[in-house]
Amino acid sequence: MRRERARIPGDASRRFVEVVASGGPSGDSDAHTLLNSILLDATELLQAQRVALMLYNDDDQTVEILDVGTPAFPGRRVELGEGLAGRVIESGQRLVIEDYDGWAGKLSGEVAGPPILSAVGVPLRHGATPIGALTAHSTVPGRRFTDGDAHVLEIFGDIAMLALSHFSMHDELRTLNNRLERRVRERTAALRQSSQEISRKNEQLEELIVGLEHAQDEERRRIAQDIHDSVMQTLSGVIFELKAAETSMDSSPVVSQLSSIRELLHQLETELRDVIQDLHSVELEPGGLMRAIEREATRLQARHAIQCSVRAAGHHRALPAAVESAVLRIVREALGNVQRHASASTVLITITMLKSEVRLVIRDDGIGFYSEQCNDGRVHLGISGMRRRAEARGGSFRIESGPGDGTTVTVAIPTRRLR
Ligand SMILES: Nc1ncnc2c1ncn2[C@@H]1O[C@H](COP(=O)(O)OP(=O)(O)OP(=O)(O)O)[C@@H](O)[C@H]1O
Ligand SMILES: [Mg+2]
Repeated sequence: MRRERARIPGDASRRFVEVVASGGPSGDSDAHTLLNSILLDATELLQAQRVALMLYNDDDQTVEILDVGTPAFPGRRVELGEGLAGRVIESGQRLVIEDYDGWAGKLSGEVAGPPILSAVGVPLRHGATPIGALTAHSTVPGRRFTDGDAHVLEIFGDIAMLALSHFSMHDELRTLNNRLERRVRERTAALRQSSQEISRKNEQLEELIVGLEHAQDEERRRIAQDIHDSVMQTLSGVIFELKAAETSMDSSPVVSQLSSIRELLHQLETELRDVIQDLHSVELEPGGLMRAIEREATRLQARHAIQCSVRAAGHHRALPAAVESAVLRIVREALGNVQRHASASTVLITITMLKSEVRLVIRDDGIGFYSEQCNDGRVHLGISGMRRRAEARGGSFRIESGPGDGTTVTVAIPTRRLR
């Protein structure tokens, strides 16, 4: 069946360009289809019965007849120098055989069907090296090939080579792409693994910090209990004895001396009670952040006559233990500063729980301070400790103050676990 296709090499080459432009090949069958079409065009244009493409294999030094076009023996291999293709590749020269029957190099019994009457072969070059051949056979008595036919076949050879190098480049690209994809997959897996490792380590660190702080609290409570059970009992005993001595004596100067000593001891007793209270810091049960902050506020108010209110905003819920612990400790330090340095009459603590972070603002109406006050040669660990706690959890810390302006501590801490 005659195909309605272009008959000149220019068109065949344009089709090849179109294939590339339309998105390129998607597999080996594309290469086969295109080469086949080029060879069929050559067959038609040369009015040949067969056009075949052979490639030289340097490994076993044979020439293989590809199964494209209209070869007589697809898949067959011939030695270099053997037959038409073998000679063309060996010499790197075109070969026109007008009378095939009388040609000394013909392979006997190579074709079934009508005998070959005329043949032409041209080399296919990669750079300067012949790597294959294109051959045409005529079995029709009136059709003998000429040099002009060899020239036309060479043009088809160039087009076939273009197609071949295009597909081999595509193959190389595909291999490179596969290799790249594999490496990306391996790297991604390795990254995922190390990120999981890091988050596991972070979790362990968080547990460790929470455990450490818990142990510190326990120790403080133990010391408070010890002071309560020993020093406080002795002190109460001494005060009681003094009271008894006072009542049993009548000498007034000694009695008044004893009375003022007893007063001093009473004062010491009160101060020690405060120390015990401070050591006995509010316990933080899981999810009990708000309750713990309210208890700190109540304590400040009861002991130091500073009006302290707590305001909650946002969606209140239990936070990771490490976050709750950091927030409570910052509150304690900030309230400790208010009590020791601010001479404030009111403090407002605002806790806002947003979707992904908790915000804490502690504002007092006290005397405020210059930042230079922190550079007085004494050790001040409170503010730096608050900042460190917030930043260690990936959060932020700010303190704003000025003489007469009061002081505002602002903290934001992410509520997710550290990754
Ligand atoms: N709310 C406040 N009002 C007034 N001054 C303050 C306030 N908070 C902090 N300061 C000033 O900032 C200084 C540094 O505070 P910081 O908490 O770092 O250390 P400290 O309280 O002096 O000692 P510590 O290390 O025991 O906390 C304080 O000494 C005080 O002068
Ligand atoms: Mg402090």
